[in-house]
Amino acid sequence: MMLEEKIYTELVKAYNNAYAPYSKFHVGAVVVLKNGQMISGSNVENASYGLCNCAERSALFAAYSQGFRKEDIEMLAVIGNTKMPISPCGACRQVINELMDKDAVVVLTNLKKDIKTYKVKDLLPYSFEGEDITNE
Ligand code: THU
Repeated sequence: MMLEEKIYTELVKAYNNAYAPYSKFHVGAVVVLKNGQMISGSNVENASYGLCNCAERSALFAAYSQGFRKEDIEMLAVIGNTKMPISPCGACRQVINELMDKDAVVVLTNLKKDIKTYKVKDLLPYSFEGEDITNE
């Protein structure tokens, strides 16, 4: 699979916008909506390291903050300067699992344009869901 050039360009912009003074590891993410709109996010770090926010969550939270919901989202693309296409962390997989359709696509890439494509459901097997929260 190839990433459209305009999506790749947006990814690189988000990558360049990362605020990562501690790790110096930049990550960019783009939520592509079914209407063609792109909403980007970058990793944003903090001197209190545990408060760092990954690019994937920045992008998905931005999309939701603008009122979009899972049915509006076509795909999430992510870029990092990794040897292989970047691998989203466990916390982001949980958030992706909740905020995107199970069959939606997550495209992972790097600065060399290597690509791996996953469906949301394959990134987090046997996931914990809202409906699992019961009191019985
Ligand atoms: N990071 C992301 O933004 N996304 C990933 O998929 C992996 C890790 C960020 C978190 C932190 O700011 C930096 O990369 C190093 O872990």
